[in-house]
Amino acid sequence: ALRDSCTAKAVKQNQRSWINLQPQASYKVAVLGAAGGIGQPLALLIKMSPLVSALHLYDIANVKGVAADLSHCNTPSQVLDFTGNAELGNSLKGVDVVVIPAGVPRKPGMTRDDLFNINAGIVKNLIEAVADNCPDAFIHIISNPVNSTVPIAAEVLKQKGVYDPKRLFGVTTLDVVRANTFVAQKKNLKLIDVDVPVVGGHAGITILPLLSKTKPSVSFTDEEVEELTVRIQNAGTEVVEAKAGAGSATLSMAYAAARFVESSLRALDGDGDVYECSYIQSELTELPFFASRIKIGKKGVEAVISSDLQGLTEYEEKALEALKPELKASIEKGLAFANKQT
Ligand code: NAD
Ligand code: LMR
Repeated sequence: ALRDSCTAKAVKQNQRSWINLQPQASYKVAVLGAAGGIGQPLALLIKMSPLVSALHLYDIANVKGVAADLSHCNTPSQVLDFTGNAELGNSLKGVDVVVIPAGVPRKPGMTRDDLFNINAGIVKNLIEAVADNCPDAFIHIISNPVNSTVPIAAEVLKQKGVYDPKRLFGVTTLDVVRANTFVAQKKNLKLIDVDVPVVGGHAGITILPLLSKTKPSVSFTDEEVEELTVRIQNAGTEVVEAKAGAGSATLSMAYAAARFVESSLRALDGDGDVYECSYIQSELTELPFFASRIKIGKKGVEAVISSDLQGLTEYEEKALEALKPELKASIEKGLAFANKQT
């Protein structure tokens, strides 16, 4: 009898996954660029979400194997694969959240803007399909240069007559993840407690961590502010150089993107307490797109947390002014690209 009861317990445990994943909701998520360095681990992390019922994996190649592999995990969501332009539309039908990590990554010596010529066209093509097939979905743009690809996406959605600025998000979560990690390390804080808002954009000096707004409240010397700010701004390059030609951040990016997906799904599911930083259409500054802390609700961006830009230190004020010309130029480059094509 004891053996039977132990066996029953083991079977029950095996039927569950290794984390508690009882289905809790039934959202559909599509990942475009799902066979890539970010796409694969991101798909795995989304596969682990109890809020997801269907995971649609799209890429131009190699996605069948990724989907077959993932589909064996005993978590609730069904995994479907879609390959090539002819299957793009179907990958998007009925989807609640579309995540876009499609495109080429940097190699050492390149800026994110050096990716523009290839990635701008990829994002434009994918967003056209999103507009045609799931215009109400939350759209998460990861493909670089984010400072330009988000304005491109906005213009394409406008041209298609379906633009809702509340549902278009540039993913800057990795900047927050890095800022939290580096600040916790430097100040010997418990990681779980640390939250640093990061505003501006997602490239070099346009990434502005507001260290004075760190929670829990913590004081930094001028040297610490300079060192941490520069490290956070160059963290992407730190990974590109360490990978020495094999690409840019993929695992930490997948982790950050999965956090942003989970936050979006919680917001869609009615959680009224969801805050993230994201690069969105914004009136917080004179720039039409700007990353800041936002509250996400069922319909997308519910509020922009404007208080983060009040009471900045002199260092932060100066850095904010310094980033504006570069961010403005990247936005205008994206808008010009999208409009030139029509
Ligand atoms: P990768 O080359 O490993 O993967 C990219 C994938 O996109 C590949 O599987 C490729 O087949 C696919 N792809 C190419 N063209 C496509 C198209 N038209 N439709 C669908 N899929 C297409 O690159 P990666 O390391 O995964 O990086 C992807 C992008 O994410 C890069 O632009 C990179 O700069 C960016 N990125 C952004 C952040 C961020 O914080 N926002 C962080 C890291 C990387
Ligand atoms: C990052 O911040 O890691 C990404 O934007 C990729 C890159 O090119 O640095």
